[in-house]
Amino acid sequence: MTAAIRPEAEQDREAIWNVNQAAFEGDYEANLVDALRGGGFVEMSLVAEVVGEIVGHILFSRVTIVTNVGTVDALSLAPMAVLPSHQRQGIGSRLVEEGLEACRERGHRFVVVLGHPEFYPRFEFSSKLAERLQSPFGGGEAWMALELVPGALEGIEGRVEYSPPFMSLE
Ligand SMILES: CC(C)(COP(=O)(O)OP(=O)(O)OC[C@H]1O[C@@H](n2cnc3c(N)ncnc32)[C@H](O)[C@@H]1OP(=O)(O)O)[C@@H](O)C(=O)NCCC(=O)NCCS
Repeated sequence: MTAAIRPEAEQDREAIWNVNQAAFEGDYEANLVDALRGGGFVEMSLVAEVVGEIVGHILFSRVTIVTNVGTVDALSLAPMAVLPSHQRQGIGSRLVEEGLEACRERGHRFVVVLGHPEFYPRFEFSSKLAERLQSPFGGGEAWMALELVPGALEGIEGRVEYSPPFMSLE
C-alpha cells in the first residue's frame, strides 16, 4: 500500500504524538514536536498516511548558525518517526525526500541532522560537510549536514544554535 505524504493538519496532532511515542518508545520526541509547534519553530511538518492512518512523521524546524561574521539561517531535521509496524518499507525515505524537496522549494539552503549514520547519507547528508558546524549535542559521525543548494555551506563555519525546546525538554 503506497503512503500518501502531505503536510500535517490540525486533526493529525494526536496521531503524530502517538507515532513519535511508538517509534522512539518514549515521550521525549513526541513532546518535542508539540513544544516546537507551540513555540512557532516549525518550518515543515509532513505526515505519511496509509488508508487514513498516520504511520509516519517528519519535522523540520528553524535553527541558526552563529559565525564570526554574523548569523545564518538553517533547518534542522528532527524528529522523524515511522510506526514500528511500517518500518523498512520505504516510508521514512519518502518523508525525507519529499521533505527536503519542499524545503528547497521554500528557498532554504541547508539542513542539519543528528541521526543514524547508516540512514541519512543515502539522501546526501554528510558528516564531512558538518565538520565546520558545531553541534551542542556532539554527535561524531551522526552529526551531518546537507546542502539544498550546491555549495551553499562553502565558507560557513560556526556553532548551530537550536530553538529552546531542544535545550529544555527532559
Ligand atoms: C529511522 C526511521 C524513521 C526510518 O524509517 P523507515 O520507514 O523504516 O525507513 P526506510 O524503509 O525508508 O529505510 C530503511 C532504513 O532505515 C533505517 N532503519 C529502519 N528501521 C530502523 C530502526 N528501527 N532503527 C534504526 N534505523 C532503522 C535503516 O538504515 C534502514 O536501511 P536498511 O533497510 O537498508 O537497513 C524509522 O526506522 C524509525 O522511526 N526509527 C525509530 C525512530 C528513529 O530512530 N528516528 C530517527 C531519528 S534520527
